Amino acid sequence: MSRFNQQRVLVVGGAGFVGSTLCHALLNTGAAAVTIVDNLLSADRSNLPDDARAAFIEGSSADDAVLAKLRDEFDVIFHLATYHGNQSSIADPIADHANNSFTTLKLCEHVKNFHTLKKLVYSSAGCTVAEKTFDDASATDETAPVSLYHDSPYQISKIIGEFYGNYYFRRHRLPFVKARFQNVYGQREILGAGEWRGTPATVWRNVTPTFIWKALHHEALPLENGGQATRDFIYAEDVAEGLMACALKGKPGEVYNIASGVETSIKDLADSINRLTENPAPPIIEPARPWDRSGKRFGSTEKAKRELGFKAGVGLEEGLRRTIEWTKDNRQLIQGCIDRHRHFLDSKESRRA
Ligand SMILES: NC(=O)c1ccc[n+]([C@@H]2O[C@H](COP(=O)([O-])OP(=O)(O)OC[C@H]3O[C@@H](n4cnc5c(N)ncnc54)[C@H](O)[C@@H]3O)[C@@H](O)[C@H]2O)c1
Repeated sequence: MSRFNQQRVLVVGGAGFVGSTLCHALLNTGAAAVTIVDNLLSADRSNLPDDARAAFIEGSSADDAVLAKLRDEFDVIFHLATYHGNQSSIADPIADHANNSFTTLKLCEHVKNFHTLKKLVYSSAGCTVAEKTFDDASATDETAPVSLYHDSPYQISKIIGEFYGNYYFRRHRLPFVKARFQNVYGQREILGAGEWRGTPATVWRNVTPTFIWKALHHEALPLENGGQATRDFIYAEDVAEGLMACALKGKPGEVYNIASGVETSIKDLADSINRLTENPAPPIIEPARPWDRSGKRFGSTEKAKRELGFKAGVGLEEGLRRTIEWTKDNRQLIQGCIDRHRHFLDSKESRRA
């Protein structure tokens, strides 16, 4: 493949789950050079590609000394840095601001006059526009209204990133493209990666890797609110494809959903994972999370299909199989990352992930 042949690419947040999956895909599709900026706040170094074309700058993209190293030489920038995730941002809104909205503002300001830059692709989140409903959901499309009332500082930061991108596009012609992901799962999402961020969600960071880890240990999967919420699960390698499509075909100033378009309940997800891992423990029902008004949601795939030619290729069953195999192969690595937080987890485990 040669889609990124000879291109020089910067990936901010490139050691993370999705970022590292993207870096590997870029290198596999012929990128000439991939520069990765990451402060390892929610990432493990082992995710960095072992490739002579990849360079790693450890530090925050909100830091002037780090930005000074980024010169006007990139064809494409992908910005995935974030303060992961909703619960961490609720525990520490200031840290969220510093590592989420501020990273976006500082990056835009630094690159606004870069001449070589053809596209800056920003990772936004479908949750910032999804309707808060437990009734039947309809596919959220890119024109969905933006609420002024969000459930977490994380969600506020993600949409502020879009606001800044729109401003820099209009005012400075920065070729900013927004990619709104749905719920990503897959290889390289390491439970406990990075630093303690104030809650057990540092370890139990997303529903799919949490369920897989617990199921492999024959533990009961916790179904908050009975698992009736629905999500649109998309495999990380598909998201990497979608991000690359945004870079190659996305129109500056535009926003694209990167979604599977398939709605799956958390209960069905748990049942699939229990079946695939042969977990004998039945799920347990837990109360709803007090901050979370998100009920049923999934993304519309129409615009990305029409304008980017993007369609997710890996179905949930196959994606789960691959993620389960990767988890088994990386048990020690994941256990080591979880154990680094054992002290906090043991004292806070009573607080729900
Ligand atoms: N995973 C999902 O389901 C999902 C859904 C919607 C949107 N997104 C977005 O996708 C992007 C990647 O998410 P992810 O799931 O891979 O999370 P992640 O935590 O694995 O990746 C985020 C990366 O940003 C890095 N980072 C944090 N602060 C930084 C800073 N100041 N400077 C440089 N790097 C910094 C972290 O160390 C980490 O490597 C994020 O922007 C996230 O908001 C993810």
